[in-house]
Amino acid sequence: MTTTEAQSKIDALRKKLHHLNEAYYVNNVSEVSDYEFDMFMKELQDLEAAFPQFDDQNSPTKRVGGDITKKFDSVAHEFPMLSLSNSYSQEEIADWETRLRKLVDGDIEFVCELKYDGVAIGIKYENGEMVRAVTRGDGEKGENVTANVRTIRAVPLKLKPGNYPASFEIRGEIFMPHKVFEQLNAEKAEAGEPLLANPRNTASGTLKQQDSKAVAARSLDCFLYGLYSRETIAATHFESISKAGEWGFKIPFVQQNFIKRCKSNAEIMEFITYWDKARFDLDFDIDGVVIKVNNYNQQQEMGFTAKSPRWAIAYKFKAAQVSTVLHSVSFQVGRTGAITPVANLEPVQLAGTTVKRASLHNADQIEKLDIRIGDTVFVEKGGEIIPKIVGVDASKRHAESAPFQYITHCPECAAELIRIEGEANHYCPNATACPPQIKGKMEHFISRKAMNIDGMGEETIEQLFEAGLLKSAADIYMLTADKLLPLERMAQKSVDNLLAGVEASKQIPFERVLFALGIRYVGETVAKKLAKAMKTINALQVATFEQLLEVEEIGDKIAQSIVEYFANENNRLEIERFKTAGLQFSLSEAALQQGSEKLKGLTFVISGVFSIKTRDELKELIEQNGGKNTGSVSAKTSYLLAGEGMGPSKLAKATDLGVKILSEEEFLKMIE
Ligand code: IVH
Repeated sequence: MTTTEAQSKIDALRKKLHHLNEAYYVNNVSEVSDYEFDMFMKELQDLEAAFPQFDDQNSPTKRVGGDITKKFDSVAHEFPMLSLSNSYSQEEIADWETRLRKLVDGDIEFVCELKYDGVAIGIKYENGEMVRAVTRGDGEKGENVTANVRTIRAVPLKLKPGNYPASFEIRGEIFMPHKVFEQLNAEKAEAGEPLLANPRNTASGTLKQQDSKAVAARSLDCFLYGLYSRETIAATHFESISKAGEWGFKIPFVQQNFIKRCKSNAEIMEFITYWDKARFDLDFDIDGVVIKVNNYNQQQEMGFTAKSPRWAIAYKFKAAQVSTVLHSVSFQVGRTGAITPVANLEPVQLAGTTVKRASLHNADQIEKLDIRIGDTVFVEKGGEIIPKIVGVDASKRHAESAPFQYITHCPECAAELIRIEGEANHYCPNATACPPQIKGKMEHFISRKAMNIDGMGEETIEQLFEAGLLKSAADIYMLTADKLLPLERMAQKSVDNLLAGVEASKQIPFERVLFALGIRYVGETVAKKLAKAMKTINALQVATFEQLLEVEEIGDKIAQSIVEYFANENNRLEIERFKTAGLQFSLSEAALQQGSEKLKGLTFVISGVFSIKTRDELKELIEQNGGKNTGSVSAKTSYLLAGEGMGPSKLAKATDLGVKILSEEEFLKMIE
């Protein structure tokens, strides 16, 4: 074969494969059998190998991946990637429409679309070829994930002929279809690995894989819903999206009602109501509907607020719900002795996962909802949260069913349960001898945010407890190689690891040791406040209820719990043993001196999701710099630190009260 012949054959095969790919992955039609497709691909691969001078980044053969990205470069967005303001009711949408009508003359046409629950992506095309794909990041700049996005078959690498601008960006959402997610989890279950939480996080994690082959193997999908260009593409959003469809993009399907033009609030609501039900039949997650003004001129007149366009709004669905049968209720005993009832359900599909268990919270809730064994119950799930039972389908109740009898004795140690006044939970009072409480306390003690003991996990605790080596957390510091080596699965290496982890934990700072003790209501933040105020365990131990109340953020309930903890002789003895072992029981010199006063006197409210730091890190930074965190916006709030998807009520309140709104970057600059 001559070089010219090879070139034209390669071109023809690429064209053919791009077309077949679009037909299959965008339009859902298979024009040839899988075998024929594979044969074309093989032929192209062979030719490309023989004639490397015709290499092309956007050849269909590149879909299988192979490029490794060690570090994803940060790329500035040409057009900022904004978020949407959220709404939850017909009234809020009607109010939005009223506001818009005041901003422009003439009728407004709207476009309703699905709100895909995945990862936002901006993909740039030059002269009809894909050149770059960037994640949303902080909206100003994102990560270059081009090699990985190339493997997503719904994303065209080369466009069909059309009147597209020489340079433009298209935006959309990458997601993992349910059937891919379920298959992955089935494989994980088989291998005894922990299961993936949900399709959205899995899609997001997949997109950040270094090896694009691994991404190709995960069959991600992508809908594209927005065009951005310096050149005019069309007069309306709907038209430009339709054009993108003609160029080969997977856009929301008109024929499946994924996108619809609407003239009135009634039509918008019809779309919303339809999808609120129909979403459960989709093979991917949506978390709402996006309503956009169709006309670009009107969009421009309406403009933007700091975070989002005025011309678009998201309507968020309420949590997904299904009904299923309640077979039985089990009771879990937590480390504080708190009893949690857990519902065992007939397995049911809910928002992309199989639900077998659901939380019932406490006896009051069971009573309030009058939940009975054998009932058909409604189960709800929102985001990551464990599914919960929210009601009973009374029409399906069996005549012979009887009200649920809550347990009176601990299912683990048979001690009689107590119920503290004003509290919803039942407790097992047998703190020193009830196995799940002892183990739970030790698990908390060694956990990452507490003593962070490397080489020790829940299973080790279980094993050492069963072997009689651990009766309380202080026993951890009595462990020796001689005691550990005879045990199963305890090879020299793991023993060395474990003992090194125990040794290292002796340097964990006081505030974390305090948190690790597991005093009821003393979480991470409270532990920090206490450590800072009291400076040593000795001072804390003798502090009176009144003195404790003077510490910032400490109220009656926490003060009472601390006093009770130290009144207990077992706890005091345990602390003496920890002291002997050498744990840190006073604030370090560094901590005594550390921290700037840059935010002194300033009060912050944090809301939404952030991209550079986590919420916890931001909270810590505020505290370290002398500022204060609060939960709700008031006249006393100095700044609202706003992330993506911030609660609309917080934003409205802040605007009303004239509270300044800070982005994550602005905040970080403040403390630089
Ligand atoms: S338009 C400026 N349309 O929702 C408006 N966004 O909270 C740009 N999303 O980051 C967004 N489906 O990841 C738009 N049909 C849709 C969408 C959609 C999902 C996501 C997108 C965005 C987030 C906004």
